[in-house]
Amino acid sequence: MASILIAFVIAALAVKKGGASPTTVNHRSCVQIEVPVSVETTAIKWLQPRVDSNIDAVDWVRYQTTRASPNNTESMMGRIPVKETFNINGQLCVPPKGAARSETLQIATHGGGFDKRYWDAEIKPEEYSYVEAALSEGYSIFTYDRLGTGKSDKPDGYDIVQLNVQVEILRQLTQLARSGKLVSTSKKLSNCTTNTRLTKYKPSKVVHVGHSLGSLVSVGLITNYPTESDGLIATGFLITNVPLSGLNVATWGFELARENDPALFRDRGSGYLVSATKSDVQLNFLRKGSFELAMLDYAWQIRQTVTVSEFQSLTTGFGEKGAEFRAPLQMVVGENDYGVCGGDCVGAYDLDVIKQVYPGATDLDVHVQPGTGHGLTLSINATAGYKASFDFLHRSGL
Ligand SMILES: *[C@@H]1O[C@H](CO)[C@@H](O)[C@H](O)[C@H]1NC(C)=O
Ligand SMILES: *[C@@H]1O[C@H](CO)[C@@H](O)[C@H](O)[C@H]1NC(C)=O
Ligand SMILES: *[C@@H]1O[C@H](CO)[C@@H](O)[C@H](O)[C@H]1NC(C)=O
Repeated sequence: MASILIAFVIAALAVKKGGASPTTVNHRSCVQIEVPVSVETTAIKWLQPRVDSNIDAVDWVRYQTTRASPNNTESMMGRIPVKETFNINGQLCVPPKGAARSETLQIATHGGGFDKRYWDAEIKPEEYSYVEAALSEGYSIFTYDRLGTGKSDKPDGYDIVQLNVQVEILRQLTQLARSGKLVSTSKKLSNCTTNTRLTKYKPSKVVHVGHSLGSLVSVGLITNYPTESDGLIATGFLITNVPLSGLNVATWGFELARENDPALFRDRGSGYLVSATKSDVQLNFLRKGSFELAMLDYAWQIRQTVTVSEFQSLTTGFGEKGAEFRAPLQMVVGENDYGVCGGDCVGAYDLDVIKQVYPGATDLDVHVQPGTGHGLTLSINATAGYKASFDFLHRSGL
């Protein structure tokens, strides 16, 4: 069956090459880096069909969703050791000198279907870019391409690109950032050598921000390593009390990435999936009436892949130490999120129930962004939603 439910993902990397639009609020101080991240953990050997063609991809979806399909527990064949260094492409930005919260670093993990550009739209950045909004609010922010997406490494889609490997990568990135060595241990892909505010950046607090599958990764971090985060904003994510009618692997319209678009995805191997059409992207991420046509085109332009084992492992990155997380936690979801709440998040959750899952959270909140689908940063009125998260953080002194 497919407890392959919470499968949404989006992401983002924004290489703004100089000439930012005149309406851009910030004069950016950012550096593009390639971070070598050493991971030592175990992944899960999953029982599932291989996907080497579009026909295989559709049959994999069928396999995951029929009534007779094995459940996640039945599909686990054992553990495989993973001891490897991955190159992760990221962008670190610091706000203007003297900004109020520059010592608080946000580390944002995008979801499925995108890369780090999810956080940093190049169209009307002042209305959509989360990176821009965070900088304006005085935060520093690190965004990166999750393993298997964008400009990061794209290893085996079965045995490597899985949730708990992603959790370990986020943990290593967090520790590198806290040590002040994020930039110095990385390959610099853009010029910043003279800006010590970037090269020697050392935060005093780290707040994690996730979207969808990236929220599952971030929740994986705080439930395995509860002291490694000073706060979590989990967007496109909610502990609901409704059946997840929409959040099904079948809604993605998957094809094999390299067959769907051989030019764009020539570096993706077996088991790398992508939504086949722009309309599939709309169904998962956008609600008619709350997006600009240009943004649907942009979302399609920046589309990215997910792997079969990321879907298999959606909930297997979670740890058992959620109760030990002692920091603020906010969940943010679009009112009309199709995948998470079956299109209607109003009344789909109970804050008291969520509090029982994170009894140690110093503050716990759910923000429902009106009229919006799963793709929060791609929807109109996005910045008002960001403000709700910033206000939440400020309440806890972050
Ligand atoms: C998975 O299936 C097995 C056997 O059919 C059953 O014992 C188990 O409870 C199921 N697990 C879940 C999480 O549904
Ligand atoms: C960095 O600056 C140097 C000198 O200004 C220039 O030659 C080089 O091409 C720049 N590199 C990048 C990656 O922009
Ligand atoms: C925009 O978002 C803010 C914050 O969630 C909300 O208060 C406001 O009503 C929204 N505006 C519209 C037109 O939906």
